[in-house]
Amino acid sequence: MDLGIAGKWALVCGASKGLGFGCAKALAQEGVNLIINARNPEALEAARAELQVLAPTAQVLAVAADITTEAGRKSVLTVEGGPGLDLDILVTNAGGPPPGDFRDWDREAWIKAVDANMLTPIELIRAVVDGMAERGFGRIVNITSSAVKAPIDILGLSNGARSGLTGFVAGLARSSIAARGVTVNNLLPGKFDTDRLRTTFQAASNKSGKSLEQVRELQQALVPAGRFGTPDEFGAICAFLCSRHAGYLTGQNILPDGGMYPGAY
Ligand SMILES: NC(=O)c1ccc[n+]([C@@H]2O[C@H](COP(=O)([O-])OP(=O)(O)OC[C@H]3O[C@@H](n4cnc5c(N)ncnc54)[C@H](OP(=O)(O)O)[C@@H]3O)[C@@H](O)[C@H]2O)c1
Repeated sequence: MDLGIAGKWALVCGASKGLGFGCAKALAQEGVNLIINARNPEALEAARAELQVLAPTAQVLAVAADITTEAGRKSVLTVEGGPGLDLDILVTNAGGPPPGDFRDWDREAWIKAVDANMLTPIELIRAVVDGMAERGFGRIVNITSSAVKAPIDILGLSNGARSGLTGFVAGLARSSIAARGVTVNNLLPGKFDTDRLRTTFQAASNKSGKSLEQVRELQQALVPAGRFGTPDEFGAICAFLCSRHAGYLTGQNILPDGGMYPGAY
């Protein structure tokens, strides 16, 4: 299926690896011009080079910056050779907040989580959404977490901050932008095989005394699909949400999780 977005400009945050890279890869394969972002410049440049090979005729720009800071967002949105604020596609993403016990989190920990996982996507959306509406086309996808639908106690910072974003997006998606070609959706990953998942398993292994392989097997057994998802599978869903064909799909929380969420709705 031709997604009909070749030549559009997309910003994909947190895209040097993992789910963000999966999204950038799927968009590159559609001939979308890309700005990719992450903090580590070497890993980001390696990702940029890989994407450029997949999309030889597209422009692939990389901006190493912390997207959770105002200066970082500014450098990404004003990169030379890019479209400025005239983006067609925005995929928001950054690292998730650390797990823990809410009794140990002070105001500063909460502000940091809200900044990274709620206010950063909102600030990025604010910068580009009206331009998208004026041009009559826009696709915004926020990478959040299955924890928004099925909260996990030790991920309280994530449950809270991302739920704030989800509530905001529900209102924005149904506002006047809906009739002007702009869609806003959230993608809620379940368990995907990325460095973040591996780090979580390592921590669980250290804590429980079980081997890393045992932890992996136990976690995998919880997924009805019997395996973890891949960044490529995640990216393909993201690219479809960004496509011409998904213009009637907005304000949704899409849950790729191999069947883990137990509810019918
Ligand atoms: N994988 C899963 O199963 C899963 C499940 C639920 C939710 N999630 C959420 O999905 C998001 C992506 O997860 P992932 O598994 O793809 O993680 P990952 O493999 O660790 O990749 C995270 C990416 O984001 C970049 N990044 C992190 N913090 C950033 C920042 N402040 N500014 C710019 N770039 C930043 C990282 O590069 P640098 O470190 O170089 O910046 C990297 O490119 C996270 O929010 C995670 O909590 C993942």
